[in-house]
Amino acid sequence: NPVGEFTFVLHGAGGDLAKRKIIPALAQLASVGYFSPGARLIFAQREALSPAQALAEVDAFLARTGNDAARATLPALAPLLSTCSVRLGEATAKAALDAAIAQGPHPVVHYAALPSSRFKDLIACLPEERSAQRLRLVLEKPLGFNARESADIEAAAAAKFNEDQIFRIDHYLGKQAVQNLLALRLGNRIFEPLLTREHVASVQITVAEDLGVEDRAGFYEHAGALRDMVQSHMLQLLAIVAMEPPVSLEANSLRDEKLKVLRSLKVPQVLSTPEIITGQYADGYVKGQPVPGYLNEPGVQAHSCTETYVAFRTEVQTWRWAGVPFLLRTGKRMPRRFAEIVIQFRDVPKPLYEPVGGHWSGNQLVIHLQPDDKLELKLLAKTPGERLRLKPVSLDLDFFNTWRIPVRDAYERLITDILRGRLSLFLRRDEVQTQWEFVDRILSDLKQHGLGPVPYTSGTYGPSAATAMALRTGALWSEDGVS
Ligand code: BG6
Repeated sequence: NPVGEFTFVLHGAGGDLAKRKIIPALAQLASVGYFSPGARLIFAQREALSPAQALAEVDAFLARTGNDAARATLPALAPLLSTCSVRLGEATAKAALDAAIAQGPHPVVHYAALPSSRFKDLIACLPEERSAQRLRLVLEKPLGFNARESADIEAAAAAKFNEDQIFRIDHYLGKQAVQNLLALRLGNRIFEPLLTREHVASVQITVAEDLGVEDRAGFYEHAGALRDMVQSHMLQLLAIVAMEPPVSLEANSLRDEKLKVLRSLKVPQVLSTPEIITGQYADGYVKGQPVPGYLNEPGVQAHSCTETYVAFRTEVQTWRWAGVPFLLRTGKRMPRRFAEIVIQFRDVPKPLYEPVGGHWSGNQLVIHLQPDDKLELKLLAKTPGERLRLKPVSLDLDFFNTWRIPVRDAYERLITDILRGRLSLFLRRDEVQTQWEFVDRILSDLKQHGLGPVPYTSGTYGPSAATAMALRTGALWSEDGVS
């Protein structure tokens, strides 16, 4: 069903995120008729561009990044589009924005695809408005660079808007696989009783990327993997795996349960037997191509101590999970791009069969988030023949092959939720704050003890110290075909 009328102001329309993700998502929705003819889209950016020029810039960007599918849908935006030059932080900004929005339909959605250092300047230009039917504000991650900055931005937003008007984006929550994970846990009877310390030996969450820092050194140098990935995507995935079943799927029920998990996390220790390892990619090869190390990337400082990899062990200190290691890792310039959650179950209490060869035993439930969107249940089955021997076998459920319809991109899903006023897949203020407190504490412990990132060769799965750290909990990281 097409969504009703609205005015959608994309702030930072000339930026990398807008061109890479948000505009293609809007164009795809427009091309399938999701927007009614009265909808208005305004690209707000510093430069004064006509709509045709702005679209031509996006088209050139998509051509450069090889996104031909998005290029094909781009013309669908033309009938809705106007542009406006807004110099946030300058005296003219408010009037320029007001003039662009004047007489547009409500709600007005202000989408801040901006560095968070600009969020307060944007909020300063907006009217105080306490109804989600009139105004919605969308904030991209990271929201600030630490708990204090984030609280500062939140205070500015709360002075003008109510909580139900603020959509804090973590695009991982828009991924179809995350919806499937929720459905797996909450729509089925069979897994939930097993997700406890009695049955689970460990939980592993990996988000591996083959890309390097690309042209984002300006941002990444201040962020690093802990702020860029752990503070948001990784902790949200953990919260969804570990939370108690909520009372309903309504936004606050879900957020209440996630928050309890976030508040119960053990901060990894950094000394003696470290529970956290950070790394930085060095020269190497990815997919057979030579790639430069982080220190040789354009825009990176000569002796930068920014981590491009982090692996750590934490615990969810609740009755359900106490003592179960949660191992999380994320890194750039890994051999391939994949994200998955591996729930490793305990072994049977008394083995009756011949020992299984190889490196894993027992059962695993693997939730593959990308590139495939599938569930895999690893079981042990008896091999044919006389011997009492078991071998690992997999039950696979590939969601694409099941439904055979293309999966919506995370941003498309999240934009439709914003337009329909659905908050379940967005973060609440206290979640973001708690996530920051966890990451701030780790960063300050690392700093206090002078612990910087260990170099790892590009095209590998990070420093060997991370393997040793996992082994101490009795786990092996799952890797290319190995788990
Ligand atoms: C973003 C990070 O939030 O997520 C990037 O800022 C990262 O550094 C990206 O590359 C990964 O997203 P996805 O959807 O490609 O896994």
